[in-house]
Order: sequence, then structure tokens, then C-alpha cells
Amino acid sequence: FLVDKGNHRHFMAKEIHEQPEVVGHTLAHYLDMANDRVRLPALPFDIASLKHVAMSACGTAFYAGLIGKYWMERFARVPVEIDIASEFRYREAPLAPGGLAVFVSQSGETADTLASLRYAAQHGQHVLGIVNVPTSTIARESHAIMPTLAGPEIGVASTKAFTCQLGVLACLAVAVGRARGTLSEADEQRLVGALVAAPGLMAEALKLEPKIEVLARTLAKDKDVLYLGRGTSYPLALEGALKLKEISYIHAEGYAAGELKHGPIALIDETMPVIVIAPHDRVFEKTASNMQEVAARGGRIILFTDARGAEEAGVKTEATFVLPDMPATITPFAYAVLVQLLAYHTAVVMGTDVDQPRNLAKSVTVE
Ligand code: G6P
Repeated sequence: FLVDKGNHRHFMAKEIHEQPEVVGHTLAHYLDMANDRVRLPALPFDIASLKHVAMSACGTAFYAGLIGKYWMERFARVPVEIDIASEFRYREAPLAPGGLAVFVSQSGETADTLASLRYAAQHGQHVLGIVNVPTSTIARESHAIMPTLAGPEIGVASTKAFTCQLGVLACLAVAVGRARGTLSEADEQRLVGALVAAPGLMAEALKLEPKIEVLARTLAKDKDVLYLGRGTSYPLALEGALKLKEISYIHAEGYAAGELKHGPIALIDETMPVIVIAPHDRVFEKTASNMQEVAARGGRIILFTDARGAEEAGVKTEATFVLPDMPATITPFAYAVLVQLLAYHTAVVMGTDVDQPRNLAKSVTVE
């Protein structure tokens, strides 16, 4: 069927703006919102007895999975191993029978992810596909699927599929935590209550677009950009850097903030923009001290945070973007919107083909 850009200049802009709605749909599918409970479809395996989860995906879907790992380990106390699919398929990972293997893919056709799925199935794993295309090969070959309800994604750089993947992964982690008894009913209600608020906070993030557009004009003059984050903001730093390089062709790297002194700090001088994703969560102070190390070397800090984070950062920034306070569990949803908007507007300033960036394909069906 026909998919158009609506009032937007590019599909990517439309897809970024659709996120509050499609993430809301996705969450509504897996939650009983009236009672703040998780409501998963029937799965052909017992999530209460899971001992091990192996995840694998490519590109943006891999970064969603990485955030899912943090949630699953925190809420359900199950060890999660996550690999880039092209590594997983050849590293011959030993998988104890009865484990759960999760494959995250927008298209459901990515060759390496599919090969990883086949390896896991051959090695006695329960196979769960988190896919946006329910008729895809990965959907068909999975033992169960949890679809993302993002709708067709046309822009090559994934945006709304990513945040919908986060929605599914969060619901799964809470459900597994409840089934295993690592979360109480009150914990479930609190976490579901937080998730229900995510679409509204993504809408708040979209309101910062005019200010991001201004920053994009400066960033478009840069050659290299560093993104830093800790905890679930670390995969967002990776995703922010990926988005920027994919569509603006500016070299960008995402790093765990704690790794700064193990390498990237050598790059810092007064020309280097450093984008710090730091909501005021339990690791904020650690990230703030990394920011101070950047500031001490003259680095240009662009800070994505909340009011408390802005107040306690203790550094002079080139720009600070302030989101509302929110529960730590849902920061990835709202902060993802900021990194997407920044990449998008930088690419628009550069004049690149945003929806069809050079050399990239929407779905990588060959190795
Ligand atoms: C390509 C796309 C990315 C996507 C990745 C994985 O590289 O350009 O946007 O994240 O493939 O695709 P999948 O369909 O498996 O999520």
C-alpha cells in the first residue's frame, strides 16, 4: 500500500515524529494499561525457567538489543549474551539446550541475523523473533514472534523501529522478571506505569527540535564527533554515532563514558564536539566526572540531560538540552529521539540524501 511523507520533507522525519504514536501502539499490545500489568502473547516455552538468553542482531537493532540486555539482567536477573549477528553466526557459541535466543530485526530478512537464528535453532534454543515485518523469513522461522508495531519504515536509517524494539524488549524483560519472581507485583506496576509514560516523553523530546536544528548547523561543519553514555545511555551513544555517520557522513564514534580515559580522551581538543547523553540516573555522577575530564581539555560539550543533570553537570557546555525528569527505565525512549533529530538535521544541512544514504541498503539480505 501507499506510504507517503505526509507534511514532512523526508520519510525519516515523518518516522521520527511518528514515534510517540507507534511506540504507544506497541506498548498497548503488550501491556494491560488499565491495570499497569504486562500481557504477553502465549509463548511456546516457559519464561519462568529461563537460565540464559542469547541475543543477536545487526545495526540499530543490535543497539536496541543491547539496551534490552541491561533491562533483562536488571529486572529478571537472567544472564544475557548479545552479539552482532555476523560474529555470532561464526563464533560457534556453546548454547546449553533450553535457552532462549532472541533475534531483533526490523525487516526480518537480514542475512546474518537469519543465519544466527538457524544456528540457535539447530542448537536446541527456543527462538524468539522481534520483527517489524510479520511475514518475513525471520518471523516464519522463529518459534514465537513479538512483533513491533512501527508500521512500514522507509528511511534506510532506522528510527521508529528502534524505539518500538525497545518497547517490546522492556515488556519482555518485565514479564520474565515477574515470571521468575525477581520483580514483585508492585515493581511490575511501577515499571509498567513508567513505560506507559514513554510516548508522552518522546513527544516532549520532539519539542526540542528547533533548538537541535540550530546545533545541527554547527555540527555540520565538524569532521569528527564523539558520543558518550553510561548504562542504557551507552547503547544510545553508539546509536547516535551510527545515525550521524549513516546519513551525514560525518565520522562519529560512540563510547562508554567510562572508556574515555582508555583511548578517546587523546582525541579531545578545543575542536572536538562531545555529545554526552546523561539523564540524572544512578550513574550520572560518574558520567559527570567524565564530562569534567573533557571540559578540562577544552572539548566542546553538548549535553542531553534533565533539569537536575543540567544543574549538577559542573561544566560549561556548548549546548544543553533539558528533558523532563523521568524514571530511569524509560530514558532510552526519549533520549533516542534527540540523537535521531540531531543526525537528521545535520544531514539536512549537509544536503545528503537522507532517506537513501550512499552505499547503504535498508535491508542487508546478502552477507
Ligand atoms: C541496515 C539498515 C539499518 C538496520 C540494519 C539491520 O544496515 O540500514 O537501519 O538497523 O540493516 O536491519 P534489520 O532489518 O535486521 O533490523
